[in-house]
Amino acid sequence: MFTARQVFGAVQRRAFSASSRQASKVTVLGAAGGIGQPLSLLLKLNPRVSQLALYDIRLAPGVAADIGHINTKSEVRGYDATPTGLADALKGAEIVLIPAGVPRKPGMTRDDLFNTNASIVRDLAKAAAEHSPEANILIISNPVNSTVPITAEVFKSKGVYNPKRLFGVTTLDVVRASRFISQIKNSDPANENITVVGGHSGATIVPLLSQSGHQLSGEELDQYVHRVQFGGDEVVKAKDGAGSATLSMAMAGARFAESLLKAAQGEKNVIEPTFVDSPLYKDQGCEFFASNVELGPNGVEKIHPVGKITEHEQKLLDVCLSDLKKNIEKGVKFAKENP
Ligand code: NAI
Repeated sequence: MFTARQVFGAVQRRAFSASSRQASKVTVLGAAGGIGQPLSLLLKLNPRVSQLALYDIRLAPGVAADIGHINTKSEVRGYDATPTGLADALKGAEIVLIPAGVPRKPGMTRDDLFNTNASIVRDLAKAAAEHSPEANILIISNPVNSTVPITAEVFKSKGVYNPKRLFGVTTLDVVRASRFISQIKNSDPANENITVVGGHSGATIVPLLSQSGHQLSGEELDQYVHRVQFGGDEVVKAKDGAGSATLSMAMAGARFAESLLKAAQGEKNVIEPTFVDSPLYKDQGCEFFASNVELGPNGVEKIHPVGKITEHEQKLLDVCLSDLKKNIEKGVKFAKENP
């Protein structure tokens, strides 16, 4: 796992020096949005990316023209919302990041986005299954707990599902967890590594502070856990109707993509938390679960178990599993009933 400082120090250094060892096309679907634009910018700074394909239903060619002037080697192309535009954006992609969809407004949960985003993700997943069936698919669009199962169902229905290549991006939860503990402990967040497991919304986000060497108790622990679980609400409230986290999310998405590219290019011990098709809690009805995952050239290399946890964390996990199961079932049901 990498800290924000390690990733961006490395990205910046390499942006001005080394060339990539391998040609990697990265596609962003929803590239003109609040997340899409800064995410595309950070990917342009990454020398492991040789081609950047930016697709959106509005403005993607403009964003591509703008980012394309940055003096790094990768080719940037913008694609309009035409059937060939989407197909061309996807063809040959090694990584497809999907932040397309609507964000939350104050008072909304991520599940409130389901009605709009479920069909957007389904349709983009269909196109990805057809035009880039072997790519790593990184789902950012919320509710991730349901949009990942929707994507899996679409890929299954087309006969191209590879569970090792589908990821729900939960990186922002661990980014927040390290930042928030550093604010309590007055430490450097770059050195904080907090495991977060479960899913990506409210009570399904379970930080495992006991594994980090830090100890909090009583109200302080409750407040910390609540802040990690509902940190996104702070941003939604502060933006006051103009959306949810975009800049921190772009950083988190770029970090995850960088980790996948590193692993694909042969680096070992690349570990990121992510929401994947996982054996850990299948027996409790959760086909998908986020835990630390070792990445490799084939995507998921090894899913780490949750490990030793406290009684308090077990209680959080129990609540998580019951909510998560419903979120997953909702996604699967939608995909089956609305093919
Ligand atoms: P936004 O509204 O600023 O941008 C969304 C973009 O998607 C827009 O440019 C829109 O034109 C585009 N879009 C809509 N339908 C599309 C389609 N069918 N094909 C291609 N593009 C399409 O929203 P923002 O803030 O960028 O958030 C995007 C999503 O990411 C939301 O669902 C939000 O909840 C989620 N999110 C996820 C996080 C995570 O940790 N996984 C964190 C923060 C947000």
